Amino acid sequence: MEKLQVPQGEFYLARYPKRKKEQLRAWDAADELVLNHIHEQSWLDTETRLLIINDSFGALSIALADYTPEMSSDSYLAIQGSRANLNANGMDVSTVSFHSSMDKLQGSYDRVVIKIPKSLAQLEVQLHDIRPHLHAGSQVIAAGMVKTIHKSTLALFEKIIGPTHTSLARKKARLVFCEFDAELNPGENPYPSVYTLENTDYKITNHASVFSRQGLDIGTRFLLQHIPASTLPLTIVDLGCGNGVVGLIAAERNPEAELIFTDESYMAVASAKATFTAAFAEQRQATFQVADGLEGIDDNSVDLILNNPPFHQHNAIGDAVAGQMFSAAKKALKQGGELWIVGNRHLAYHTKLKQLFGNYQNIASNKKFVILKAIKR
Ligand SMILES: C[S@@+](CC[C@H](N)C(=O)[O-])C[C@H]1O[C@@H](n2cnc3c(N)ncnc32)[C@H](O)[C@@H]1O
Repeated sequence: MEKLQVPQGEFYLARYPKRKKEQLRAWDAADELVLNHIHEQSWLDTETRLLIINDSFGALSIALADYTPEMSSDSYLAIQGSRANLNANGMDVSTVSFHSSMDKLQGSYDRVVIKIPKSLAQLEVQLHDIRPHLHAGSQVIAAGMVKTIHKSTLALFEKIIGPTHTSLARKKARLVFCEFDAELNPGENPYPSVYTLENTDYKITNHASVFSRQGLDIGTRFLLQHIPASTLPLTIVDLGCGNGVVGLIAAERNPEAELIFTDESYMAVASAKATFTAAFAEQRQATFQVADGLEGIDDNSVDLILNNPPFHQHNAIGDAVAGQMFSAAKKALKQGGELWIVGNRHLAYHTKLKQLFGNYQNIASNKKFVILKAIKR
């Protein structure tokens, strides 16, 4: 655990889930910059109703715990990480109220702190979400690394909330100050969006943060072409389901199967549920769960796991998450059960599968992608 030192105090913070040999800190210079600013400007008092959006592992919520903040996030890992870090600092977990990105906000906020997300679409929906909960005296500060703040980012604040200006950069981080303009017409919130899956009538629902929300990802398309078919009553998991398109096609090809959709993003799971319900209405039952990988799924209980693994995790690039998913898959599979994955050829997932399962089979490959299957023996 590393120590965050800010005017509000010193706090021990770890990323979540904890990994051996973690190379990355649980906060960044933008967190430090906004915490310093809040302190210097005496921006908060104990009467302030404070909302914090996209706090990664609780750096902001924990440092500002004296103001009993509400924290809203699309990430289950961020919420669990913040809870774990509150505990690690001997703080009462109930000092922060947690909301998922799919929860409706209630009442009005005096102060809002936003960590600028990587996805402009996610920022757009968040600004639309908070606007009805601001009042004439509300103030919004956003913080981000310079590389995440573009003209288009500032234009969104101007369009949806009101007049906007930025601070000077410090340690490659910058603040965005935004005044609420009650007269502004912010236009329609364009999310969730829906596209029709090519060569089908299936409507694929995509909330703002969802992977490849404007159309089918090319790796996913390749996987869809090879999803196995069976008439057995299998248990199939769409692991890291995003908008649920993989599980949808698996359900079509496996008419007797029971489907489980899981993702760490609340918007992803809500999208998968909408996609599946639009396709099958009441005819098929499925389970939808926000979780870290296969958390909550019994060992030795699954016949088939389908996975297009993530390789960006909270901006940190690496295949650690994929590795964790594969080893969790091995536990969750029944003997003889299969893990099917699609990945970029250069990611060398076959080495990991061989290590874990002692076997793998190359199902298909093209110039960019490979589909691999491993069997639990
Ligand atoms: C490459 S996308 C694939 C999405 C979808 N299956 C598709 O092919 O369009 C990877 C997904 O894994 C999810 N994810 C990342 N880390 C996760 C974790 N620890 N547990 C569960 N899902 C996770 C991401 O939110 C994302 O939706």
